[in-house]
This record gives sequence, C-alpha cells and structure tokens, in this order.
Amino acid sequence: MSRLIVVSNRVAPTQEGSPAAGGLAIGVLDALKETGGVWFGWNGEIVGHAQPPSIEKQGSVTYATVGLTRRDYDQYYRGFSNATLWPTFHYRTDLSRYDRQEYAGYLRVNVSFAKQLAAMLEPGDMIWVHDYHLLPFACALRNLGVTNPIGFFLHIPFPVPEMLRTVPPHEELVKCLCSYDLVGFQTESDRQSFVDYVERGGFGSVSEDGMMQAFGRVLKVGAYPIGIYPDAVAQAAEQYAHRKPVLALRDATRGRQLIMSVDRLDYSKGLVERFQAFERLLLHSPGLHGRVSLVQIAPPTRSDVQTYQRIRQTLEGEAGRINGRFAQLDWTPIQYLNRNYERNLLMSLFRLAQVGYVTPLRDGMNLVAKEYVASQDPSDPGVLVLSQFAGAAEQLPGALVVNPFDLTQMADALARALAMPLKERQARYADMMARLRANDLSTWRDAFLDDLRHVATAASVTR
Ligand code: G6P
Repeated sequence: MSRLIVVSNRVAPTQEGSPAAGGLAIGVLDALKETGGVWFGWNGEIVGHAQPPSIEKQGSVTYATVGLTRRDYDQYYRGFSNATLWPTFHYRTDLSRYDRQEYAGYLRVNVSFAKQLAAMLEPGDMIWVHDYHLLPFACALRNLGVTNPIGFFLHIPFPVPEMLRTVPPHEELVKCLCSYDLVGFQTESDRQSFVDYVERGGFGSVSEDGMMQAFGRVLKVGAYPIGIYPDAVAQAAEQYAHRKPVLALRDATRGRQLIMSVDRLDYSKGLVERFQAFERLLLHSPGLHGRVSLVQIAPPTRSDVQTYQRIRQTLEGEAGRINGRFAQLDWTPIQYLNRNYERNLLMSLFRLAQVGYVTPLRDGMNLVAKEYVASQDPSDPGVLVLSQFAGAAEQLPGALVVNPFDLTQMADALARALAMPLKERQARYADMMARLRANDLSTWRDAFLDDLRHVATAASVTR
C-alpha cells in the first residue's frame, strides 16, 4: 500500500473546537484519520527564521508542520493567497489587489514547502495537495525531480476565465495546475470554468472521459463534491444536546423560533445581505416580532487583511442598527457572536434551530449547509435556506434555494421555512439525508484517490 501524503496550507489543529476551522481542515482530517498518512503544512505560527518541519504522530496521522517567517506570512498568506486569489476566486475582483513582491513570496513559499516535503518522500507515496495557497506546488516538486503521482483539489470556487484573467500571472498559475496528474473541483461548473480557460486560451483540450492535454502534459480534471459523515453529525447533535451552551440557547429562545447561521467572518459569506433580508422579514411580518430570533455565529478570521476588518465593521453596524430598530425589552432580533464553539456543540445548536440560514455570495461547497441538515431531529426537522451560489446547492435540492442578492426572495424563503408543515419538512429532510449518505466524505476521498491512482498508473505505462 502506498502512503498518502496530504499537503495544505492550514493543517488541522490536533484538538477539536479550534477557532474558525474551515471546511478544508474538517474534511481532510476526517478523511485522513481513516486511511492514515502524513499531513504536511503550516502550523499557524510565525517564526523568526525558517526551521525544518516538526514531526508529531497522533494515531494513524503523522503531522509534519512548519512555521512561516513574517515576510512569508505577509507575502504568501496574507498577500497573494488571501488578498489576491481568495477575493478573485470568490468573484470579488473589486476587493482584489495584485503586488509582484507578494506573488514572488507566494512562489518562494511553494518552492520552500516543496523542498522540505521532497526530503521526506518515498518512491510509492501519493501526494494530495489542497487549495489555492498551493496552485504552483506540483511545478515546484516536478522541478526538484519528483515523479510521484500528485493530485490537487480546490476547495473554493474556480472563477470563469474573464475573472481569472484579472490576476496577472494567470497563465503561469494554470500551467502549474497542469503539472498535477489530477485536478479536482467542488462542482461541475468550477471544472467547466477551468476547462474553458484552457480551451479558449488555446492551451489544450479535454476529452469526454475528463482527460486533458495541455501545456505538453496529460492530466485528468474532475468534479469531486466534498461531503460529511451525516450519521456521525447526527450522533454528535444528540450527544451534545445537554451541554451548557445548548441548554442556555434553548432556554433563551423558549417559545420562539430560531434561525441559525455559522460562518467564518468573511465577505464571501453574504452576512450583510443575510441580516438585511432578516430585517425585511421583520418589516413585512409584524406578527413575528418577539417570536423569532436570528443567531449568527461568526468567528473572525484573517483579521489582519483589510477587507476583513471592513466587513467586520459593517456587520457590527448592521446588527446594531437592525436590533435598535426592532428590539423589545425582552427580545433581541439578531444575536451576533464573534466567537466559535466546539464543532460537536454546534451540531446540537443546529438541532435547536427551525431554520438553517446559509446564504454565501459564493462558496466552494459550504459544509455548514450539509451539517445543518444532518443534525436535525428526523421527527421534527428544520428547513435549510441555501444560496444558489454555494456548491452545496447542486446537491441539496431539498433546500429552499435562494439568490442572496434578492433580499425579498430571501425574506420570503425565511417566512416559508418558518411556516412549513411537518410533512413537507420531513420529506425534504429525508431526500437530503439520503443524498448526504450516498455522497459522504469517504465517497469524495475514495473517488479522488482512485482517479489519482488510475491516472498515475496509466501515465507510468505510457512513460
Ligand atoms: C477556507 C479555505 C481553507 C482555509 C479555511 C480557513 O475553508 O478553503 O483553505 O484553511 O477557509 O481559513 P484560514 O485562512 O484561517 O486558513
């Protein structure tokens, strides 16, 4: 059996309940625990000077992590990854900036990570690289003479070619993506955007089986929507139901309906529009005053990136304004919490909520949407209101799917969700649970790794 080597910028902290873990950390950790393997990446710390990776074994997973120097952090992580690629890939070119020095730092860290990883590699190892921080990682490894199979999975959306071209080194980035043996996306539309870029730019072509010839290489491109373990989520939701914060929320909202959202505090999540749609609901339905609350849990992330500071301020203003407008002595319409809770506890909180309100303006997948569904009580499930621009919308037709730019439509969907009869809620829940079970996290992992193995074997035969 070959070893699995996972590479990502953020390595999941070894303790549960870490602040603001995104979908990547959650999905990869769960997937890796079963297969075992090595997880290489940044340990989240800033160090005075570069040091060799520190190695820590926990169960079947070996963590090999490194710190970043201040300059690397500023240029690679805070700069090119999160101030250029993240906004552009989420269709916010207005928030994106480009700086040559930062791009040079991005490439430099990719090369330095590649060197450190290459020193640890064995001949049979399969390498699985994750997310936008590491687009050029395969190029860097190949330049060092590494011939192992290397796959790449993008957790965030892939933008349409017109958007991507606003990032000046777009061609170099796509060329590097073509150095992988397999490139996977969350959805068919992301995959199509990538293919469009390559084909329309005259760089190559793709055949019906997903094999692409581009920049003198052959690789496979596919869509592999990431999933969760719905039954484990359901179990956690039940088991944590008697924890203090869950009981506190239950008591505080007794006799009221609850709408619940959990997101990293990110401008891609559509929080402003979400608050405003809730405001519109209150405006149009005076009967709901005092009878429904929105709980928004939003742990801050990347708070040293300016665009994140701005969205935080805007949201504080909006929550304050809306609460000031509608609150009563014994009722606060929006409870806005800039903190995080242990993941299992969140599942229990979801179970208390009649509505899961997940309305990003753009999102690769959004595992919160899936977790909300899985944590429901099957005899009295809540309703998911979901943005059409989350990857999850392609897979959860049982949700009330909304356009987050249409505040009235969102307000109507909330009203409909709050009033939905039990039978309809149960039917929608059953449909979504069946889909979550049929496409769970192991389906994602196995489909990707099987394809990587297959493509690599085919390539070694023709080599
Ligand atoms: C998203 C990204 C991940 C990232 C996570 C948390 O889920 O796809 O790559 O790790 O957000 O963001 P952070 O910048 O804190 O790692």
